[in-house]
Amino acid sequence: MYYIGVDLGTSAVKLLLTDNQGNIKNCISKEYPIYFPAPNYSEQNPTDWYNAVIDGLRELLGDDYGSLVNGISFSGQMHGLVILDKDDNVIRPAILWNDGRTTKECDYLNNSVGIDTLAVNTANIALTGFTAPKLLWVKNNEPENFAKIAKIMLPKDYIAYMLSGVFASDVSDASGTLLFDVKNRCWSDTMIDIVGINKDMLPTIHESSDVIGTIKKELADKLKLNPETAIVIGGGDQAVGAVGTGTVGNGRCCVSLGTSGVVFAASDTFGMKPETTLHSFCDANRHYHYMGVMLSAAASNKWWCDEILKTNDYGAEQKNISTLGHNNVFYLPYLMGERTPLNDPYARGTFVGMSMNTTREDMTLAVLEGVAFALRDSFELIKSLGVNIDRVRINGGGAKSSLWKKIIANVFNVHVDTINSEEGPAFGAAILAMTGCGAYPDVVTATDSLIKVVGSVSPDTELVDLYNKQYAKFKKIYPALKPIYKELAD
Ligand code: XUL
Repeated sequence: MYYIGVDLGTSAVKLLLTDNQGNIKNCISKEYPIYFPAPNYSEQNPTDWYNAVIDGLRELLGDDYGSLVNGISFSGQMHGLVILDKDDNVIRPAILWNDGRTTKECDYLNNSVGIDTLAVNTANIALTGFTAPKLLWVKNNEPENFAKIAKIMLPKDYIAYMLSGVFASDVSDASGTLLFDVKNRCWSDTMIDIVGINKDMLPTIHESSDVIGTIKKELADKLKLNPETAIVIGGGDQAVGAVGTGTVGNGRCCVSLGTSGVVFAASDTFGMKPETTLHSFCDANRHYHYMGVMLSAAASNKWWCDEILKTNDYGAEQKNISTLGHNNVFYLPYLMGERTPLNDPYARGTFVGMSMNTTREDMTLAVLEGVAFALRDSFELIKSLGVNIDRVRINGGGAKSSLWKKIIANVFNVHVDTINSEEGPAFGAAILAMTGCGAYPDVVTATDSLIKVVGSVSPDTELVDLYNKQYAKFKKIYPALKPIYKELAD
């Protein structure tokens, strides 16, 4: 039998069809637009996601595979606010994870409600991308829309709802709403009161590999799927990406080089350090994880190549870069502001240190290095919790670059393992579908059987020393610029 993993990303949805041995039968990607209607705003239309998923499923399945599919599951961009009215109409465009409009609402939550209350009830503090501040923003700025809310959903939950008719979410994605009691894996009544919503506006919570229902009959007919096809709820993209890279089990760590950049560490036990902006969330394997999230990781390189160099041949830009650890140019990757550890929506992308002999390669390298340095900030925070990490796995579009992997191995001073699957969240979603449908008894057994390390990039002592010095310089730039970023935004 076959399984489908749907990865609802920020720039595209990726759909993967695999058998229960992880042999990939087909893979389709469908892009959709993202809108930046004002500085710091970031929105998408949920109907664009849905149309892309349906078109993608049709293409993925063709005439041959539909009747062989057992289950479908999801990985979704996290935190996005999707609101539906009583007739299930989308009330306004979804406000995305990288939207920074909620500074006032975050100030209110962190300072008036207070970090202690937030920590006790959610294990996290308010960060602009999270969902609860967005609900407050709608309440404060669009009261007519707030009054219409009947259902509140996260992006992948909207797709699961449209496919199954079941209003559900999972613990990993719900963790990023700031409405969720992470430690006890349930909605927080205190937060529901603080935001001024009703509990019945929120979906029923499941573990990520739970079956929530079956595909709607009319869609089964349209897509030639078996009407018994199970809908498995799946999870937030980081937790599911971790499944797709086998990052399950205490102390395992993965780095995601997607639009966002994430350092993710799995933990068997609950813990938190909310004041540092380190996220403490449920994972997709019935345990917990810590993560630090930067907002523009592979997005920085995409912006640099697409918008500035006007090329989409990212490999060609990197192929002549051979000397590492000596770059005089530094890049601060804060194109959309920054979450961990700065929690600063006003920060901006910045190049520092160019001279007349600076080359195009130096600038490209600075972008890759700047992202690695910013990720190291999160890595250091996770290590400060006593988590001992000497190996990481990398997923996301940036993992295609062997140069970037080498830079990360040396900036972090860890071994970067390469695995037999490059599909990350989409494959993780397929694994959750397999587990939900009983092809494997649990997520760990599935990942142990399906994901193997096939190579490794090791750190080089000399380069680690050089990069420690470069990182120390990088660390000095943001504090010097912080007041200027704020002034530029005013
Ligand atoms: C995680 C986060 C991003 C988004 C988009 O907290 O904000 O990973 O889910 O990828």
